[in-house]
Amino acid sequence: MKRQAPTLTQDKKPTFIVAVSGASGSIYGVRLVEELLKSQYNVHLCISTTAFSIIRVETGIELEGTTVAESARKIQSHFSSRNIRYHSEHNLAAPVSSGSFMTDGMFVVPCSMKTLSGIANGYANNLIERAADVILKEGRRLILAPREMPFNSIHLENMLKLSRLGVTIAPPVPAFYQKPKDIHDIVDFVVGKILDSAGIQHDLFKRWE
Ligand SMILES: Cc1cc2nc3c(=O)[nH]c(=O)nc-3n(C[C@H](O)[C@H](O)[C@H](O)COP(=O)(O)O)c2cc1C
Repeated sequence: MKRQAPTLTQDKKPTFIVAVSGASGSIYGVRLVEELLKSQYNVHLCISTTAFSIIRVETGIELEGTTVAESARKIQSHFSSRNIRYHSEHNLAAPVSSGSFMTDGMFVVPCSMKTLSGIANGYANNLIERAADVILKEGRRLILAPREMPFNSIHLENMLKLSRLGVTIAPPVPAFYQKPKDIHDIVDFVVGKILDSAGIQHDLFKRWE
């Protein structure tokens, strides 16, 4: 009998959900996915409709196809990994929509104020919001990188509400004591800090000693 290729749920490698929502800073989400895959982790990726356009505008990378299957192919080919699985934001029947599907946590990088609000208020209107809602109800790790400037009181209240629920609010704010040479250094620092929040090893920046 032909042996089946292992699926994401059958093997023992850590499994993370990564959502890229429609805020500026899509490069952080793309870089985060690259790092998780480099560590051989499984990634369930959800990209919102606006995020596809922002990824295109900001990075020049085209991940969106005319169908879900085509987007999945483009994503798999871009990241050159079998450990990534793309889910449409409209697919509320995706595995990550259920608490019975085990994951090790979820990142929303970058997190728009709309998605932040949807998560803070349990709106669960698309797969990103639903998956985050599930992570919260199951008491698993949720890390958000909210991006907006300046924040209004609604944004801040949503962040505070989530923080009090144990969510890590990790805005993509770079530091400069590393003396970054280019945009890649800045992106790696921010993504490294996001991975730190999840307790994931990396060598994206040199630590302060
Ligand atoms: C080029 C571009 C940049 C944007 N940047 C941000 C941003 O940094 N933060 C934010 O909250 N919304 C931003 N928006 C607006 C969101 O994309 C919009 O509110 C959208 O409805 C978010 O939906 P989503 O969270 O489902 O992706 C941006 C929109 C565009 C087109």
